[in-house]
Amino acid sequence: MKKDIQISYEQFKNSTELNDIEKRLFERAKQARENAYAPYSNFLVGCAVLLENGEIFSGNNQENAAYPSGLCAERTTLFWVAANFPNEKVKKIFVVGGPKAVSPEDPPIPPCGACRQSLIEYETKQNENIDLYFSSMNEEVVKVHSIKDLLPFYFDATFL
Ligand code: THU
Repeated sequence: MKKDIQISYEQFKNSTELNDIEKRLFERAKQARENAYAPYSNFLVGCAVLLENGEIFSGNNQENAAYPSGLCAERTTLFWVAANFPNEKVKKIFVVGGPKAVSPEDPPIPPCGACRQSLIEYETKQNENIDLYFSSMNEEVVKVHSIKDLLPFYFDATFL
């Protein structure tokens, strides 16, 4: 039997289409991107996280001379948030990435597969979806309602 999986997402042509909290997250992610430590790839990624208590925290990618020892912006940020606010739900994550030399052609940068898996862990833990936004410095933004939308047949604790 053939089955289909469908996902819906929203596309914002530029940041003027975002609401106030989304705009704040976008700004925080852009600021965080400026502090990324990415001397090997020159690919800078910033991430901003909105918690249920209204606080926003941000982080960025951290690279290493031993390449696999580095970490993406999404996991750097979420792991720190989870370590410090284990009981606070994550409502929204905004990711802004792209080459250090920004070009008008840069597309929205989605989280890598490993980050999708890591982020899903927190949706499962909090039993509530996380809105994910991703973009480049070019302002076009994509929004998905759940990280799970980006990883069909995801594996999580319910299988254990
Ligand atoms: N990177 C992220 O931080 N997040 C992503 O979603 C994609 C990739 C980082 C990892 C590495 O430091 C650089 O971007 C190039 O892959």
